[in-house]
Amino acid sequence: MKSRVQSLKSRVEELRRRRNAVILAHNYQPQDIQGIADFVGDSLDLSRKASKTSADVIVFCGVRFMAEVAAVLCSEKTVLLPDLNAGCPLADTITKEKLCLKKKLHPEAIVVCYVNSPVEVKAESDICCTSANAVKIVNSLKNPEILFVPDENLGNFAASKTGKNLILWHGSCPPHVELRAEDILELKAKHPEAVVIVHPECREEVIRAADEVLSTGGMVKYSREIDAKEIIVGTERGLLGRLRKENPDKIFHLASELSPCAQERGEKLFCPDMKVITLEKIIESLSEMKYKIDVPEDVREKARRSIERMLK
Ligand code: 13P
Repeated sequence: MKSRVQSLKSRVEELRRRRNAVILAHNYQPQDIQGIADFVGDSLDLSRKASKTSADVIVFCGVRFMAEVAAVLCSEKTVLLPDLNAGCPLADTITKEKLCLKKKLHPEAIVVCYVNSPVEVKAESDICCTSANAVKIVNSLKNPEILFVPDENLGNFAASKTGKNLILWHGSCPPHVELRAEDILELKAKHPEAVVIVHPECREEVIRAADEVLSTGGMVKYSREIDAKEIIVGTERGLLGRLRKENPDKIFHLASELSPCAQERGEKLFCPDMKVITLEKIIESLSEMKYKIDVPEDVREKARRSIERMLK
């Protein structure tokens, strides 16, 4: 007899075929969602996949801004987000209105917008970036003034790598900023053989203490290729399942779980928004074609320019 999960998976399969749908999942999604996805990746990989798919329907298992990027790049397709509660507190730190006020203070500045932002903000920006390409994008700009929104830590990281002076926005990702340098130093002292990899949304002090600073896709590649047997990971815990599955011969530790200081502070490296989508909600989404992510045409056209400039 089929288990409940197996029956849910079969139902997803049936609907996926019927709708000619593709299921895209972010690296932070729960393992059962990653398991049924056609493609799992970081923000950059997922936007590339969305732009190239021949499916009629894209079911986006991630958070809202990611589904919006897919909707911008694929106007002729239906983009579904199985739960509209999948938001992003970092993206919520900025609005189109707030950005326009800031632009007035820096009229000469080119605006680089991290993908973790509302689509209306992308429409008011000159070029997008993700955590995988922020350094490259900033480096490619010749403008003397660069306004980088909304993640302050990623902006600082890009500034330090490129030697450029960026005007920053004070936004941050709650799970990532909870991690502290003392956690990393403690872990390195206790596990001298382990390498420490962290996401660039972490605090500057954490980035300085880590061995490598990588996007989630970068972490997947690095873990596959590195000779080290033990890896301490400073990013949202959802990535650990994928890393362990793909590298059974290596030991992965979530930075916050290994550090007594982080445990004491209740640090979990957990993003609740990334966990709201379930197999049941994907079935509902494909059955009822909900929730459609629609972007108004004028916003879409402007946002498309900044996203495509990044992809090029
Ligand atoms: P990636 O660019 O690694 O997908 O990171 C996205 C993100 O939201 C990190 O918090």
